[in-house]
Amino acid sequence: MEFLRRGGWRGATTDHDWSSARRALHAAAALRPRSKSPFACTDEHISPDALRAARSTADPLFDDALDADRIDDTCDAVASCAGGASYAPPVLAALVAALAHPPAWVDWDQVRVGQDVFARYLPACTATLYHLSLVGGFSAERIARVVASTGYLNGNGRDVLARILETATFLAHVTEPGGLRPHRPGWTAALRVRLLHCRVRRRLRRSCAWDARAWDEPINAAQLAVTQLAFSAMVLSGVQLLAGAPLPQAQQDGYLHLWRYIGWLLGIPDEHNACVSARTAQAHLESHLSYLIEPGPIGMGVAHAVLALRLPSGEPEARFAQRVHVCRAFIGDDLADSLRLPRPRRARDIFLGRIELRLLSAYSQLCTLPVLGQVLLRVHRWGLRLLAARSTRFGFPLRREPLIEHMARASECPFIAG
Ligand code: HEM
Repeated sequence: MEFLRRGGWRGATTDHDWSSARRALHAAAALRPRSKSPFACTDEHISPDALRAARSTADPLFDDALDADRIDDTCDAVASCAGGASYAPPVLAALVAALAHPPAWVDWDQVRVGQDVFARYLPACTATLYHLSLVGGFSAERIARVVASTGYLNGNGRDVLARILETATFLAHVTEPGGLRPHRPGWTAALRVRLLHCRVRRRLRRSCAWDARAWDEPINAAQLAVTQLAFSAMVLSGVQLLAGAPLPQAQQDGYLHLWRYIGWLLGIPDEHNACVSARTAQAHLESHLSYLIEPGPIGMGVAHAVLALRLPSGEPEARFAQRVHVCRAFIGDDLADSLRLPRPRRARDIFLGRIELRLLSAYSQLCTLPVLGQVLLRVHRWGLRLLAARSTRFGFPLRREPLIEHMARASECPFIAG
């Protein structure tokens, strides 16, 4: 990756060095098994008691509303609540109405800056989300276990692709200028995802195959917070890696602020919403990673499925080894080895992987140029709008039952018929 560092755009040197976010993931992975945290603890880090509490806290307001209103898995509750329909579930409708009043700290100009950052550096952001946040994130076995329960990301290739495209659509909506204003598509999308998370949680809790004492509450506050940091801090670290220097401070701040607001909409408790500053984000990331990073068999399976994008026929996609090569540049060899990702051997795969990295890096550097960067921002925004417009499946009904084979104690559960 030396090429990436040498050729980089030279931004202001006082900007936060986000490579620490990537290094935190590498450090957390390298020290397994371990008895103590690999990070020095500061006032900004989360205390062990607060971390423990976050692992058993989910989203009580929304979770309870689902039961109180007897909302089933097919009803588009957010649309009926937001649209003020007479048949809207009353408890959820009150919560949705409250979320239409953003907190006083929301600065719409900063949100807009953050949305522009994502659109401007789109290839670097999406490459980082895929290789670093998503694949690297599956070294958190507790998170992988939840995701695997719905079978999307470890199903056949079409399902994996559909899930990735749906998340891309979500991102297209929340990064559209004005899209996060109350009742606009990005705002609605965030609430739909929050409700979808509640539905997954409810299914897992009810299935009795979920051992909350061993695996924590599914989609708990700590897991939500670290995933929010994977979408924000980790992405800034990937853009820095590819562009060769940190983004200007105002852009970093805007991008973090965007995710602070999205995190608020998704129900992350204020004390765990770390996108307030680079320092807090880094400290919280380290606190969460030191507990969560623990590669295991479920995460390995999901990471392979995501990189292989297996075809419906079961055949792995031809570019698997090339993707692994790129992925190793992001997550490091230690973590890639613990996820049992193969080391690409064929010269062709290594060559194509290198070319892909260089093109990504060169393109990301072009995105930093003042005039060309603005042009590319518009081109990328056009692509994002096309994606958002073509998404006919954006209602987020939860279409799948959790896959029983991924739940260790399923066979003991008398209520799961299979
Ligand atoms: C900031 C945090 C998060 C964001 C922005 C987010 C985003 C999303 C989006 C956009 C979807 C819809 C995808 C689709 O319909 O296919 C989704 C679904 C889902 N999410 Fe999250 N998510 C977050 C945190 C988490 C966490 C921490 C977990 C697990 C521990 C999780 C587990 C799931 C599951 C199981 C689904 C449903 C089915 C699936 O696609 O696998 N999410 N999330």
